[in-house]
Amino acid sequence: MRNGLSCRQDQCETIRARKGGVPVVCLTAYTYPVARLLDDHVDLLLVGDSVAMVLHGHKTTLGASLEMMIAHGQAVMRGSSKACVVVDMPAGSYETSAAQALASARRISEETGCEAVKLEGGVEVALQIAAIVTAGIPVMGHIGLQPQSVEKDGGYKIKGRTPENVAALMRDADAVAKAGAFSLVIEGTVETVAADLTRHITIPTIGIGASRDCDGQILVIDDMVGLTVDRVPKFVKEYADLRSAVADAAARYAAEVRSRTFPGPGHVFSAASDKDKA
Ligand code: KIV
Repeated sequence: MRNGLSCRQDQCETIRARKGGVPVVCLTAYTYPVARLLDDHVDLLLVGDSVAMVLHGHKTTLGASLEMMIAHGQAVMRGSSKACVVVDMPAGSYETSAAQALASARRISEETGCEAVKLEGGVEVALQIAAIVTAGIPVMGHIGLQPQSVEKDGGYKIKGRTPENVAALMRDADAVAKAGAFSLVIEGTVETVAADLTRHITIPTIGIGASRDCDGQILVIDDMVGLTVDRVPKFVKEYADLRSAVADAAARYAAEVRSRTFPGPGHVFSAASDKDKA
């Protein structure tokens, strides 16, 4: 329930109906102020488990926990009134069984009020997706490069480079769609393969390091605004340079504190004035 409307199914069905239409605009968001800033500009906000790396400094997304995802999901929901908010299911919260996946999805859904959850995998998580969807919680799938499998895969490897892998990706996409997901993230996959997958399945594909032919695109917000301090993947386009803006502001603030020019007259309170407000 948001703004008094039961909009969860509607929001996800609206995105499902965008297959082959105007591209779906998606970004990650992890905090209240960023959700406030992005909400007017995007169709979908993903509280990605990338939060573990981007905001918490973990080396991989395996550092994300259910509690972490719920806390950030709650913050984003407070800042969003329009976008479809999807919260990632962290590694370890859904792989074991459909029952485990459903219990975790229910916690995320009930404790955040988000529209949908996302989980990584294809054929091997089809039962989990079906159980969550059947319980009334919409699911977004995620195939191709799966960051939660980085240790198993021995690094971040681009997918779709061999005929066997392309066939596996097709099977995965089919399984996720058949299980009832309303959309599918395709990450780090050869461009032509991502385009073929998009033509092949009936639900919208959301690309990241994939193809402009996908039905939508997503980027990690900190990468997109140039705030990421570690390595930025090739598929990222930086639309702003907030690293320089933050460093420049910090340097000017430090200089003004050291020279005692901050706080100036406009930033202090006089004893006499009743007009002063903090
Ligand atoms: O966690 C995340 O940010 C994601 C996107 C990159 C799709 O899964």
